[in-house]
Amino acid sequence: MSPAQSFKLAFKLAGVIGWPVTQSRSPALHGHWLRQYGIAGAYLPLPVEPPRLADAMRGLRALGFAGCNVTIPHKRAVLTLVDRADPVAARIGAVNTVVVQDDGTLTGFNTDAYGFLASLRDVRPHWRSGAGPIVVLGAGGAARAVVVALLDDGAQEIRLLNRTAERAQELALIAPTYIDPIDWSRRNEALDGATLLVNTTSQGMVGYPPLDIALDALPAGAAVCDIVYNPLETPLLAAARRRGHTVIDGLGMLLHQAVPAFAAFYGVRPQVSNELRRAVEATL
Ligand code: ATR
Repeated sequence: MSPAQSFKLAFKLAGVIGWPVTQSRSPALHGHWLRQYGIAGAYLPLPVEPPRLADAMRGLRALGFAGCNVTIPHKRAVLTLVDRADPVAARIGAVNTVVVQDDGTLTGFNTDAYGFLASLRDVRPHWRSGAGPIVVLGAGGAARAVVVALLDDGAQEIRLLNRTAERAQELALIAPTYIDPIDWSRRNEALDGATLLVNTTSQGMVGYPPLDIALDALPAGAAVCDIVYNPLETPLLAAARRRGHTVIDGLGMLLHQAVPAFAAFYGVRPQVSNELRRAVEATL
């Protein structure tokens, strides 16, 4: 074994590639687990400008990295730079986790879909995506991950609404039988009979206006999920809570998407605990 390889085995290196990367919570999250499990390793913020992305990906192997996470604006581009993409990442069209294999090749994963469902099940353990219509708002990368997660969990009817109708129509091509693109102007009535409402738009985030929607048509038993985590309680979730709905904030998805990545980098499957939640909440 070469000295570089033995260092890689003894001290595990990973990080998050983004531009900018200072906003990423991943170093705090993975750092918490590294300390908790007493693992000899590090998780670093890695600022990489878009023109240097291909070089950075190639450099992972040379530097002895176990892998990396990928954040804005690189998630789509990395899909074309890995040697192979996991089928879920290929369907979502984006990679958020890259694993360096023993032979030095790179595999791209997307753990956002897993994170979304795990966070939903934290709050609703018996959740079944096939139990009724689901409304998803937005058609960006996060919406793609949510839709793929729900389809793989058996969703039969996803009502997809996006301000720009063409993007919803394009996303619906993932599974035209199960995804119904509906015009944004009909978002209030689209809630009729739904079991779950998911916001994946930027509306309600710090610095953005609240999502413009009336929840009156949403059945009492429906859950409302916002993937925005800053603030933790968006105006949408506050309105849903006032109406008595089960609410799911965006922090759960952020924490859970990191679980398979940490397991791949460091060889330990970590727990999402209340202590972790509080530690990451403190960075918001
Ligand atoms: P991400 O990939 O992180 O999901 P994105 O691609 O920028 O981010 O998507 C942001 C989502 O918020 C989009 O669905 C966007 O709608 P458009 O496709 O029409 O841009 C949605 N969004 C942004 N501003 C909005 C607004 N004022 N009202 C409704 N939706 C909005």
